[in-house]
Amino acid sequence: MTRTIYINGAYVPESEAKISVMDRGFMFGDAIYEVTAMLDGRLIDNDLHLARFKRSVGEIGIPLPLPIEDIKQVQIELVRRNRMTDGTIYLQASRGVQERNFYPAEGLAPTFVAFTQAAKLDGTPKQIDGVEVALLPDPRWNRRDIKTVMLLGQVLVKCQARAEGFGDVWMHEDGAVTEGGSSTAFIITRDGAVVTRDNSHAILPGCTRKAVLELAEENGLKIEERPIRLDEIAGAAEAFLTSASSFVQPVTRVGDHVIGDGKPGPLTRRLQEIYLAAARSGDKII
Ligand code: PDD
Repeated sequence: MTRTIYINGAYVPESEAKISVMDRGFMFGDAIYEVTAMLDGRLIDNDLHLARFKRSVGEIGIPLPLPIEDIKQVQIELVRRNRMTDGTIYLQASRGVQERNFYPAEGLAPTFVAFTQAAKLDGTPKQIDGVEVALLPDPRWNRRDIKTVMLLGQVLVKCQARAEGFGDVWMHEDGAVTEGGSSTAFIITRDGAVVTRDNSHAILPGCTRKAVLELAEENGLKIEERPIRLDEIAGAAEAFLTSASSFVQPVTRVGDHVIGDGKPGPLTRRLQEIYLAAARSGDKII
């Protein structure tokens, strides 16, 4: 079955989904993206992802390409046409197409594309056994709260981590963890506090982060929203990361430090289960 892709108002076969070489997303990384997961026919945390999409385009002055309700309909239509029950739905809005020029022309129409990527996201080896992450300097710009397609920094640190034998990467700056290469970083202290960096321009405000913190609080866990200092990683009882495509994923090693006994920790497992149970309680769209 050939994949159907949405591009500027049309649903077309992948081979016909083309954008201009002059697209500002291609030339300047002048574009915003968003990723929503699908699990067993359900969209996960989608309202949070669509709200962040709206915020991100607003922060760089790209008009929202469609009203949020219509974007949701595009997601649902794509899922149905591609018969996808598990995987991710990607959205991207660039500022539009014009002759190469740093200064955007007035009144550009955004280029809006969306596609599905089928994948089983739960029960993966990383979900079960956890992941070892490298700890590398954060090479990115200073507005990481905006979900732009300027991902070269993350591409390079992820590749370096893989070359050094790690399964993923956490980044750091000024003696503290910022976030994962494409995820939010958490530790659990020996006294059971769930620690993750407070939202600011330094990190992407993770949608999974928000959902997990709410569930942790409902379940009586202690939460500390503050930077994770590099010198406290060695003493952490547990560690995990969150993202739309990895849910709650145990982390068993951070750079030189094995976390706990090198196996996914009990509170991480509990949060993983609680998050998946909440995700599976939503309505199916397919
Ligand atoms: N990335 N931080 C960064 C830098 C990210 O790229 C992501 C997600 C997150 C987690 O955010 P959320 O929980 O809302 O997915 C944090 C997506 C999955 C990606 O780029 O594919």
